[in-house]
Amino acid sequence: MGESSIIEKLPQIIKDGKKEAKEILERPFKETAVEKEEIIPKSSIELSTYKNKCINQFYQGDNLIVIEKLLKKGYKGKIDLIYIDPPFLTKANYKGKIVVKNGEGEETIEHFAYKDIWEDGLASYLEMIYIRLCLMRELLSEKGTIYVHLDYRTVHYVKVLMDEIFHEENFINEVIWAYKSGGVSKRYYSRKHDTILVYSKTRDYIFNSQLEKSYNRGLKPYRFKGVEEFEDQLGWYTLVNLKDVWQIDMIGRTSKERVGYDTQKPEKLLERIILTSSNEDSIVADFFAGSGTTGIVAEKFNRKWIMSDKGALSLITVNKRLTENNSKPYYLYKIDDKFKGESKLLIKSMEISKDKRGKEELHIELDKYCLHIDKIDIKDKYKEKIKGILLKDSTALIDFIGIDINYDGKVPLITYQYYRKDDNLTINSRINIKDDRLRDTKRIFIKCIDVFGFQCSAVYEINNERVVICQEN
Ligand SMILES: C[S@@+](CC[C@H](N)C(=O)[O-])C[C@H]1O[C@@H](n2cnc3c(N)ncnc32)[C@H](O)[C@@H]1O
Repeated sequence: MGESSIIEKLPQIIKDGKKEAKEILERPFKETAVEKEEIIPKSSIELSTYKNKCINQFYQGDNLIVIEKLLKKGYKGKIDLIYIDPPFLTKANYKGKIVVKNGEGEETIEHFAYKDIWEDGLASYLEMIYIRLCLMRELLSEKGTIYVHLDYRTVHYVKVLMDEIFHEENFINEVIWAYKSGGVSKRYYSRKHDTILVYSKTRDYIFNSQLEKSYNRGLKPYRFKGVEEFEDQLGWYTLVNLKDVWQIDMIGRTSKERVGYDTQKPEKLLERIILTSSNEDSIVADFFAGSGTTGIVAEKFNRKWIMSDKGALSLITVNKRLTENNSKPYYLYKIDDKFKGESKLLIKSMEISKDKRGKEELHIELDKYCLHIDKIDIKDKYKEKIKGILLKDSTALIDFIGIDINYDGKVPLITYQYYRKDDNLTINSRINIKDDRLRDTKRIFIKCIDVFGFQCSAVYEINNERVVICQEN
């Protein structure tokens, strides 16, 4: 007898998944966040008007833990839209390319982003997704919808699981996202589409129909009575309700949207989904966030968002993207300590002085950044390069510095962010901050994330104008 087929394995996958989901739902809640910070992009809010307005949340960690936390922290039945774009069972490892400064030159380093290789192939993939889908259903509101983005490798099997969890009558659509980019083959038709399965929780779901252009045959006007027609540079068209085949370009090499994350999806795709299946103020969630496209688009259309991803590259990409987009304040939760304790930021000097007009000014000078090279998930040839880079200028590896200039000892309120920009590649090692709040500063919190996602933080106490380090993480 050969290996049992996936059809034979499915009943067990479903039985085990249901049992595990029940156990998760019934067990007492164990606080999981290792760290929590509040990131407040400077230009997004006037601090004096800001009072616990933070609703958006990004979790770094496995989404199974995140979903459990949300279910037990009041989000059961509260989310109107879930979009997920999980790994596709491509049997590949995804990488991100990081360009760092190496003395006067630059160095490109390939860094692991996420794994899409499954020990027991399709069966273990389906086990992973089944339990998560079961629990995501609990998060959906009565008007809620879930979009599951897949491709030819898994969509047919996941459809069967979705029918079981969400019931066939709640299956709304199979959306085909068609694009032009990617490889071609002479052995099969070129694979140029992904499939998005759409299910609602009940029959009474949010659906704000969107319109698209439908070009007339021959691109000429029809002049039918009562039909409004329009003309653009291509020809004459009418507006019709959006169909289930969407032709949207992938993010190209030169696209302005591109953030350097391999599997980044176009904002246009998320725009359609979010506008159709959520309302202003709805909560939109994405538990496989990658580069954070869902949160970026949700915010653009005044939706609240919750995102999670377990990859380090995702965290640094999302953090930067949100800051650059002047996003609303958001909570950053870290729920595993995989990327902690391996690095340290040394400060050369830190002082608060007064400028000519008597205004307080904080001056920080970074000294050195230390990192355990062996812990980085990169090939050995890159490790050698990193050693050289660290010797020339260790701060070249710092990707993000966040500062709370008036830390109250609870949740750090990161109101100052500094991050590497593509044109400069390094963070300025001298930081100057002018802020009226410095007058009352007792403690300063500094957080540092490097290009590989390793994180460290420290609290500095101001004691009789002297700055002393009082706590390191
Ligand atoms: C296809 S990518 C998502 C891309 C995203 N839609 C975008 O526009 O950038 C899938 C993501 O799922 C994340 N991931 C995989 N398994 C996960 C898990 N168990 N928990 C959280 N994130 C996970 C990976 O790190 C990866 O970033």
